[in-house]
Amino acid sequence: MQDLDEFTATDAALEQMAGTPNARLKELGDAAVRHLHAFAREVNLTPEEWLFGIQFLTDIGKACTPVRQEFILLSDVLGLSAVVNALHDKKARELGSQSSLLGPFYREDAPEMPLGASIAAHPSVEEIVVYGRVTSNDGKPIAGALIQVWQTSEHGLYDLQTHGRDGTDLRANFRADAQGRYHFRTVRPLGYSIPMDGPVGDMVKAQQRHGFRPSHIHFLIGGEGYRELVTALYFGDDEHIDSDTVFGVSGSLVVNSAEDTNSPIPGLRAVHYDFRLAAAAPGESGRVGADPSKLMAAE
Ligand code: BEZ
Ligand code: FE
Repeated sequence: MQDLDEFTATDAALEQMAGTPNARLKELGDAAVRHLHAFAREVNLTPEEWLFGIQFLTDIGKACTPVRQEFILLSDVLGLSAVVNALHDKKARELGSQSSLLGPFYREDAPEMPLGASIAAHPSVEEIVVYGRVTSNDGKPIAGALIQVWQTSEHGLYDLQTHGRDGTDLRANFRADAQGRYHFRTVRPLGYSIPMDGPVGDMVKAQQRHGFRPSHIHFLIGGEGYRELVTALYFGDDEHIDSDTVFGVSGSLVVNSAEDTNSPIPGLRAVHYDFRLAAAAPGESGRVGADPSKLMAAE
């Protein structure tokens, strides 16, 4: 019989897990145990604090619904999602446009709209046009690329927040034309606070953070033979552009709307952005997007 202390308990746990046949599962499990145990030792974790942590994670699970994924939100505000995205970008065989967070408000069943349509059902401010091309890394057009967009309204809320899963607004799927071009009309989204009425919001408040994301439009873009790109464009004049609560902003994704004589819809201020997709490696599906509501549906 082995007498365990705070160090040998780690060895014992790793030893019991040593026979895990799936090599990647073993690597993940081993590293999780080593880092979790090291964390407990570093902070000298007390039983009360451990229980507080268990309660926190339990509350996060309870806050999840088909239209709210509180675990993704936790990952986002801790910067973990940003780290995973950066690692994913690094693994590409070639550089495409930079990725950004999927966030909790993506849904797979947005309506398909023709190029040039407005995604805003009830615009109360002047519309803008967003346009550009989807190409390969070396500039070849990706004809028929699927461009999924979603954003908040001019009031800073997603359709899922205002009317749940009944009906959609400010989201649509477009197909690029034969030259890889896309364009659509929309309103400039308002920057918004991440959902603060749950356990993650309580944590963010306890850390005295503002909880805001700068104004942005999400994109999920795919084409046959290419890595799917999950990204967003951020409006550079938003007051929170340098302090995004979920660390999604990169310099290459910052845009501004401007008068633009090349715009496909003259008279509206325009945002011009060309997206580059990296080729998928052989055997790589390239799929990275997922509808968060599916996680609840999988119960
Ligand atoms: C969003 O961009 O929709 C988002 C991302 C992370 C947390 C909350 C919202
Ligand atoms: Fe968002």
